[in-house]
Amino acid sequence: MNTQEVIALFDEYVIGNYGRLPRVITKGQGNWLWDLDGNKILDMFPGWAVSGIGHCHPKVVEAIRAQAGELLHMDNTFYNIPQGKLAQLLSERAFGGKCFFCNSGAEANEAAMKLARRHTSKEKYKFITAERGFHGRTFASVTATAQPKYHDGFLPMLPGFDYVPFNDIDALHEAFSEETAAVLIEPIQGEGGIREATPEYMQTIRDLCDEYGALMILDEVQTGLGRTGRWFGYQHYEVTPDIITMAKALGGGVAIGAMMARPQIAASLIPGTHASTFGGNPLACAAAIAVIEAIEEANLLDNAVKTGDYTRQKLDALKDKYPVIDHIRGKGLMIGLQLTTPGAEIVSACLDKGLRINCTQENVLRFMPSMIVTTEEIDQAAAILDDVLGRGDQI
Ligand SMILES: Cc1ncc(COP(=O)(O)O)c(C=O)c1O
Repeated sequence: MNTQEVIALFDEYVIGNYGRLPRVITKGQGNWLWDLDGNKILDMFPGWAVSGIGHCHPKVVEAIRAQAGELLHMDNTFYNIPQGKLAQLLSERAFGGKCFFCNSGAEANEAAMKLARRHTSKEKYKFITAERGFHGRTFASVTATAQPKYHDGFLPMLPGFDYVPFNDIDALHEAFSEETAAVLIEPIQGEGGIREATPEYMQTIRDLCDEYGALMILDEVQTGLGRTGRWFGYQHYEVTPDIITMAKALGGGVAIGAMMARPQIAASLIPGTHASTFGGNPLACAAAIAVIEAIEEANLLDNAVKTGDYTRQKLDALKDKYPVIDHIRGKGLMIGLQLTTPGAEIVSACLDKGLRINCTQENVLRFMPSMIVTTEEIDQAAAILDDVLGRGDQI
């Protein structure tokens, strides 16, 4: 099949809910993609942060092969070894919590919100979430996503959500009440434009949750599994949350999500209260174990810090050269370039030159390369962006 034939197939049989670029990707290896027309693309936004250790990491591929030959799926009627091992690895790298496994970030957030309602007292049913946050597309997670564009056409949203401006401590105080079950925020807003929570904001959430008997839930779907230089984004702060959710990079390309809760809170999910048919299946868990081992064997947390700093230097140099870059934000390999103009055409011009980046919130370019990115690859990416920005009005 050629590119046009594949697109025609989609037009006829696949629901058009994504704005797709007219390329068919056939192969991914490390930080590179290949399309059906033979183009090679340097991927600085691999799988929207799913391929956190690059495409088709050999350790993950090998773990999937080995597990596929033993036991692909086993329902939660029984125990299986990879699920237990993965829960232990995650718990030991976070706050000693217990895990529930599912298949996506939205599902992990659903699980967290259900647990918060079930664990807290009856009058507590409300969630406080932050403007520009992103938590997924299922009904509760998209209601938690305080961005009107994602609610358009789906009203009314679920009851019980209070939205506050991100990093606004006064608004947080005002929003809290005896009805608050939990606060749900991202430590660094990803889709919202790479915006970090301040230490004071995190501490205030912790204090108010303790004061009101509410739970602090951190959505680590994008920040989790090492991209910021620590296993989880909250580890850059002095606070410990009650619940974290994760997905994306956890499976190295295989669908898996997880919620981790402090053991005494996790105890509220007794049999029959929540479930997922595929959740914690051996194949996905084996892949996730391989991801964690690969990160540790190659010191990829350190690499995220080093290559993150290097990327920042390169991008800072471009900022000095091009006024269209207002400033640069982020941590480790989660980097946003705040532009003074919309960024879609820059992204598209970069892709034409073989570089994939992303634009969010209309004018924030996202650089989120994998943790195995090299300085040479960053140089190549920066050179392409330099070239594209240098053409200025031709974009
Ligand atoms: C912070 C955050 N939470 C939740 C989600 C939803 O994850 P999923 O698409 O796997 O449901 C995303 C997806 O981009 C995300 O960035």
